[in-house]
Amino acid sequence: MDVKEHKLSLKREVGLMGAVSLIGGTMIGSGIFMSPQTVLSSIGSPGASLLVWACCGLLVITVSFCYAELGTVIEESGGEYIYILRTSGPVIAFMLVFSSVIFVRPAGIVGISLSFARYVLAPFYPECPPPVLLLKCVAAAAILTLALVNSMNVRFSMSVQVFFTLAKVLALAVIIIGGLVMLVRGHNYNFKDTFENTNLGINSIGIALYQGLWSYDGWNNLNYVTEELKRPEVNLPRALLIAISSVTALYLMVNVSYLAVITPKELMTSTAVAVTWGNKVLGSWGWIMSVAAALSAFGSLNGTFFSGGRVCFVAAREGHMPEILSMAHVNRLTPSPALILTTVISLVVLIPGDFQSIVNYFSFTAWFFYGITLGGLIYLKIKMKNIPRPFSVPIMIPILVLLVAIFLVLAPILDNPQIEYLYVALFISSGAIIYIPLIHFKLLPGPLRKMTLFLQLFLEVAPADKNP
Ligand code: ARG
Repeated sequence: MDVKEHKLSLKREVGLMGAVSLIGGTMIGSGIFMSPQTVLSSIGSPGASLLVWACCGLLVITVSFCYAELGTVIEESGGEYIYILRTSGPVIAFMLVFSSVIFVRPAGIVGISLSFARYVLAPFYPECPPPVLLLKCVAAAAILTLALVNSMNVRFSMSVQVFFTLAKVLALAVIIIGGLVMLVRGHNYNFKDTFENTNLGINSIGIALYQGLWSYDGWNNLNYVTEELKRPEVNLPRALLIAISSVTALYLMVNVSYLAVITPKELMTSTAVAVTWGNKVLGSWGWIMSVAAALSAFGSLNGTFFSGGRVCFVAAREGHMPEILSMAHVNRLTPSPALILTTVISLVVLIPGDFQSIVNYFSFTAWFFYGITLGGLIYLKIKMKNIPRPFSVPIMIPILVLLVAIFLVLAPILDNPQIEYLYVALFISSGAIIYIPLIHFKLLPGPLRKMTLFLQLFLEVAPADKNP
């Protein structure tokens, strides 16, 4: 039987609303409940911290204009991977999928799951941080549960997503309204001398931006599924603008609300800022915030598992990923091989990982590749002036954002070199070394080929074109 006949074909099913929630639902997750305290402690003052959150939003809106042009010129799914492949060639594109499958996505999953665990445990440890071992066990349980849900049933994981998106928007709304009420009642003393104690060190600014940008990450999610978007030339730019500017507005108001209620000192030492906020504003109902923040992280985790398979599919289509990772279960249509691999690596990363360092290395790697993608856009604008462009940004914009990306990648290294960044850089480059024998010369060892066949039979999976 020819399997090709049974391949699912891509359908354009995502409209504007779906597109906006695909972006917004991924962006809002753990960060807004975890990062405000790190941003504040690294930048030093409430005023500068609000400025960092605003700059992150502005940066993400600007970079998304560049992605809107890329996504309408190169109308293929796969995000950075496909843009880098079409502009900078296969070696760098392979380095990207390699880093993303082995490190970036698992790191994202671990970061979010640690935030989930922190909020689940917060009500039981009101005065002190919970024991690390317990925190990691809860995080591991969340990862395993969602891996299971996602490999059992696609529908179910989709309804989980809708429910959790509602929960987190509601939680943010409660925080904003509560903060407004406090401000109206005159709680504005944290906004006096707001720039006092600002740290202007390059490293402090870099780390504050890394932590803020983590909360905004996911803004590029729609570019992974351009092939499934209706009228991408119109809906891609619109959805990016609507979703990212709404999230930026929400994040700014939530931060103002935190600062209206909690003093900077309390904020910096709080183990879970939404709980501290809840205890002050909602009194004995404060635990509700902890539930909401946990649900928000859980939903984001589910979304990250759900959409993660797509890059694997696109990369396997180009021969850059073992085919097994792009296969789906024959009956359930879930991408179980990719899910299993991601789960195993995530659990390994979880053992040494803590939220802040995971977020820093995540942002470092992510912005390295966003930078290369922007380089590709600049190349396209110079070398292929005449291709049709439904949406076009002035060339100064990608150049400016590229400079920011270079600053973001270099700042923490130059100012305060930590050996871990070297490891991450070595790891990214090791992709190029693996590329030569495995992809360029196709030297797939015989046993590996047999293993693919064995795994295919064992897991009951078959090739599929679309992430089901
Ligand atoms: N912004 C999300 C949060 O605050 C994290 C997104 C991780 N990245 C991703 N592509 N899923 O939790």
